[in-house]
Amino acid sequence: MAAHAMEHLGAGMSPQLVVALDFPQAKPAMAVAQQLVGVTSWVKVGLELYLAAGARIVADLKGLGFRVFVDLKFLDIPNTVAGAVRQVCGSGADMLTVHALGGKAMVQAALAARDAAGTKTSVVAVTLLTHLTSEDLPWAAASLPELAGDLACRAHAWGADGVVCSGQEAGIIRAATSPDFLLVTPGLRRPEDHVGDQARICTPLAAARAGSNFLVMGRPITGATDPAAAARQILASVLIPGGTS
Ligand code: C5P
Repeated sequence: MAAHAMEHLGAGMSPQLVVALDFPQAKPAMAVAQQLVGVTSWVKVGLELYLAAGARIVADLKGLGFRVFVDLKFLDIPNTVAGAVRQVCGSGADMLTVHALGGKAMVQAALAARDAAGTKTSVVAVTLLTHLTSEDLPWAAASLPELAGDLACRAHAWGADGVVCSGQEAGIIRAATSPDFLLVTPGLRRPEDHVGDQARICTPLAAARAGSNFLVMGRPITGATDPAAAARQILASVLIPGGTS
């Protein structure tokens, strides 16, 4: 893994909490982000917020001191993805996503575009989205964990910095790749949280124990009466002795 990807991890073993700011406008996203200053280091900008606010939201969030994960999940021909990656790297993003299903040439075009941009943006590949179940699979022969694991191994071999995977598959993927391969896990829910549209869910603690480095949570934090208190509670629940969060 590129040395810069390691820079995004804490010095210890505890994972980073990434709050997904899925809002329709910059204003409510920035209001929640302001409450999270000093609580968590990372926030995530997805399609909705990026389309509403543009690249400027990345600079605004970085201005508050956050590391910013731009999660636009690129899936297109290599030349088009390379151009999109150049734009995201230019915005100052610390991490971005492409789909592993885009294949070797597309993932490597993304990595080459990042390298040419000269930024430290981690490029992570989405395996199988966490709302999918076996009913959705177009490949009847393979099980969902097998497919996610296979995509993750391919992304690892292609040189990606890490993958986005369910906590249910993080343990298998960690064992099949390397200790420094970044595992980014969304679809996290505590027992008291609404599952919503997610399917392959897991608790933050189970994902941390399985080896996830980045725990992505949106609605259980952004929809809480006190987002900072919710984030603190989640961070406390995943503290690994001797690690940092
Ligand atoms: O609100 P919730 O905790 O479900 O948010 C999860 C976030 O992670 C969303 O922003 C979603 O786009 C993102 N995500 C996901 N599953 C993936 C990749 C990203 O839920 N496989």
